[in-house]
Amino acid sequence: MRQRKVKNRDEICAACAGWIADDPSALKGRWRSLFENPQQPLHVEIGSGKGRFICEMARLHPDVNFIAVEGAPKINVRILQKAAELDLKNLVVLMEFIGNARDYFAEGELDRIYLNFSDPWPKKRNIKRRLTHRDKLAAYESCAAPGALLQLKTDNDMLFAFSLDEIHSRGLLIRWVTRDLHHSPYAARNVQTEYEQKFSGAGKSINCLQAVLKQERA
Ligand SMILES: C[S@@+](CC[C@H](N)C(=O)[O-])C[C@H]1O[C@@H](n2cnc3c(N)ncnc32)[C@H](O)[C@@H]1O
Repeated sequence: MRQRKVKNRDEICAACAGWIADDPSALKGRWRSLFENPQQPLHVEIGSGKGRFICEMARLHPDVNFIAVEGAPKINVRILQKAAELDLKNLVVLMEFIGNARDYFAEGELDRIYLNFSDPWPKKRNIKRRLTHRDKLAAYESCAAPGALLQLKTDNDMLFAFSLDEIHSRGLLIRWVTRDLHHSPYAARNVQTEYEQKFSGAGKSINCLQAVLKQERA
């Protein structure tokens, strides 16, 4: 995502400090304590961009706590601004690039993970960087609470096919899948991301799926 330099980044961060998750790896196992209602489910989006999706989700679902994960400093500041404008009490921003989710989240800590329009990393030598690589899925699984879901959407057909293969390789159950989200039964509940608006506006159909990261206890 290309962005011009954000001149007053420091001022924005200072004004929005309440939304920044400081020392995020030290919050492993304690994320819920950041929120007014710690008993609520905890949903994470990895690669939130400017935060359109996660801020709107937080506004629509005050009964869920959200973590936006975005490592790019010129971009994550936009999430802070949106969160402050909406005065969201159920959102914090993890301002780092996540390598291994296990470094930040404890076993069973997360109820849902969203991956929206993740970078496709098209070259073979970068396959392990894809956020749906089987090693990353294994990490998400260990951070997942019973019944936790993974939801991903992308315009990129190659990345979607790869992700389906990786999900199958981990033996995860796919609850639903669509190659054309905006003309599917799931469209009504869909909150669009910035990239989604751009690509669907250009006529590209959007792939989406929901998979179970960890089965409910019997
Ligand atoms: C292609 S953009 C999509 C942004 C947004 N989800 C959307 O749909 O508009 C991918 C974003 O993910 C961020 N990102 C990629 N890998 C990440 C990681 N491991 N941890 C945190 N952010 C990441 C990038 O900085 C970039 O802003």
